[in-house]
Amino acid sequence: MIISGSSSAHVTQAAEALKAGALLGLPTETVYGLAADACNEAAVAKIFKAKGRPANHPLIVHVATAEAVAKFASEVPVFAEALMTQFWPGPLTLILPRKDGMVAAAAGGQNSVGLRCPSHPVAREVLQACATQGVWGVAAPSANLFGRVSPTTAAHVQSEFGNELLILDGGECDVGIESTIVDCTRGVPVLLRPGQISRIDIEKACGLKLVSPEALNTEAPRASGTLESHYAPSAKVRLMSQADWQKALEALGPHAQNLALWSVQKPAPDLMGAGLCWRAMPSSATQAAHDLFSVLRDFDARGVRTIWIETPPDTPEGEGVRDRLQRAAA
Ligand code: TXA
Ligand code: MG
Repeated sequence: MIISGSSSAHVTQAAEALKAGALLGLPTETVYGLAADACNEAAVAKIFKAKGRPANHPLIVHVATAEAVAKFASEVPVFAEALMTQFWPGPLTLILPRKDGMVAAAAGGQNSVGLRCPSHPVAREVLQACATQGVWGVAAPSANLFGRVSPTTAAHVQSEFGNELLILDGGECDVGIESTIVDCTRGVPVLLRPGQISRIDIEKACGLKLVSPEALNTEAPRASGTLESHYAPSAKVRLMSQADWQKALEALGPHAQNLALWSVQKPAPDLMGAGLCWRAMPSSATQAAHDLFSVLRDFDARGVRTIWIETPPDTPEGEGVRDRLQRAAA
């Protein structure tokens, strides 16, 4: 059931549902989350079951304020503190050493915990209402079945989990791709997942170079978003340069069937046959991120079999979108 996030009665209803151990579709500025009380093991188990996600893949715990971090993390390095000050509330998740005995199930048994303070006004209201009831952390992975495209509207969430799930409608997500994740447990900041807050933003804020996980000689933490194939629609996705899709489309002529194309440039009119579904890719990386998952869902809903996507330019701001596209195509 979808309820409006602009009603304070509904926000209270949502917080009470979480307190009672139920699941909730929660809007955030990045993507919608499938939320549960992070300290309630039975509720957290429902998330893994509903998503079909392996129980050892850790979930992000959402908090209302940076002060709540002390409840879940045993230690906050100085550079992590600087990142929180600069980017919270906002689309940044920090991996910190986990306090003994806290949110073990949500953390997938790791000795670290992922924490994020979202900026979406409805998420903030829910988290604040939860905190007044003693629920200090809300575990929420993206509200999609394991491996599938993340949801950026309440309707997307409903199409994944049906009408049984209580979903708070907070409108379309602003950012459109999941938060940037920085591992702060290794002495140096490690970029686990690129997002809207770019590599350059992070390095500037903490005055340190970001390290990539491959550069560290230790076993990488399990992270679904870092699996090679993820965020995948049902159709087959192919990343292509502009020259390549143009050549391939010319070879097909106007006879393309069940084909979708997401590109900056519109194909020539004589190649726009009825079997080709074209959507304009914004040239701004921020706008492309905003549109990405809804475009993939839209193509899937039209039943296309193949999706061609123009490879976005290799800029720091575009790293998040390129990362998701590579995984969608894998
Ligand atoms: O923007 C977001 O981060 C969204 C919204 C709902 O907040 N959430 C999200 O959650 O993307 P999820 O579960 O789909 O992705 C969380 C990622 C996973 O790749 C997970 O493995 C990683 O964060 N993660 C969480 N805790 C971790 C930990 N302790 N160590 C390493 N990775 C962790
Ligand atoms: Mg996800």
